[in-house]
Amino acid sequence: ARTRGLRFGSATAWSAPGADRGGIGNPRYTALLERDCGILVAENEMKWQRLRPTPATFDFERADAIVALAKAKGMAMRGHTLLWHQTKWMPRWEATHDFGPRPATAGAAMLTQHIQTVIARYAPQVASWDVVNEAVNPNGSGLYETALSRAIGGAEPTLDLAFRTARAAAPGAQLVYNDYMSWEPGNDAHRAGVLKLLEGFRKRGTPVDALGLQSHLVTQGTAGGIAGQQAEWRRFLDAVTGMGYKLVVTEFDVRDNRLPADPAIRDRGVADYARAYLDVTLSYRQLRDVLAWGLSDRYSWIEGFEPRGDKARRRPTLYDRDFRPKPLYGAVAAALTAA
Ligand code: G3I
Repeated sequence: ARTRGLRFGSATAWSAPGADRGGIGNPRYTALLERDCGILVAENEMKWQRLRPTPATFDFERADAIVALAKAKGMAMRGHTLLWHQTKWMPRWEATHDFGPRPATAGAAMLTQHIQTVIARYAPQVASWDVVNEAVNPNGSGLYETALSRAIGGAEPTLDLAFRTARAAAPGAQLVYNDYMSWEPGNDAHRAGVLKLLEGFRKRGTPVDALGLQSHLVTQGTAGGIAGQQAEWRRFLDAVTGMGYKLVVTEFDVRDNRLPADPAIRDRGVADYARAYLDVTLSYRQLRDVLAWGLSDRYSWIEGFEPRGDKARRRPTLYDRDFRPKPLYGAVAAALTAA
């Protein structure tokens, strides 16, 4: 990556010292991070759910520990996320919070105080922020609303306020809208919704620098439709970059669906599928950073989220359960080298 002026990185969780987890307390895991990564992102520890136990308090302990590790090892950081714009991903208290007699003022104050406080703590180490995460309903019905956005007066002004506040607090940082609209069939409405949101940001002069492509890929079983998917994806990325946005691959991994259980066959299918995606995506000069959402199959979130029907263990990341590099590692390296 470095020889191409690119940067590779990964998410990491916090974990207790010695725990067998995909986090900073596990030396077998941090060895992978140190070996491969120029940039880290906290998988969960900078979310409202973790930072805001109550409306009046912050708990920075675990996020601090991740940032300290990055600093000690000379790695940059991305920040994820200043606003995950869905009630189910906000702290539980958010849904029923009483914003008082002047909800617009109180809601705006809560959002701006949160963003200013988090940015002040982690600047300048965090050079790129997922200011807003997943605000677009993938079914095409528009933007989500939360208790906070209803108080402020709607999703649009809420997202705009988030970006404006972030720009003022971190003038030099890259500000990202991050979402999981992907290249697979069935994502048309989601991609259209994201384009509409990005157009709106430009019309209103909202300071957004880049689109975060989460890149949670899902193999489709055959290579048959891959050229069509690539063409579709190019159309989308052309539209995004045509509006002047940069791109970041923020959460790369591959859900190994519709592939045989045999690990060798599955790993090959995953690697080829990912290479086809990365070749298109990395052909855009607007893209410099590629971050994986964890580095070992042993700890990937996907196992818990969607286990395979045949009970075979998921193999979504670059390293297997025993920390050995898989064909996906080679595919990512080759795509970076070819970029
Ligand atoms: O740590 C607690 C544990 O103490 C408790 O016993 C257990 C019971 O539910 O929960 C544990 O916390 C879980 C946490 O992951 C750590 O494993 C949360 O419930 C669970 O909701 C959380 O899931 C995370 C999810 O975001 C929601 O925040 C995943 O780890 C994380 O990989 C996932 O990441 C998201 C990105 O932020 C946004 N894009 C999609 C991506 C994948 O869903």
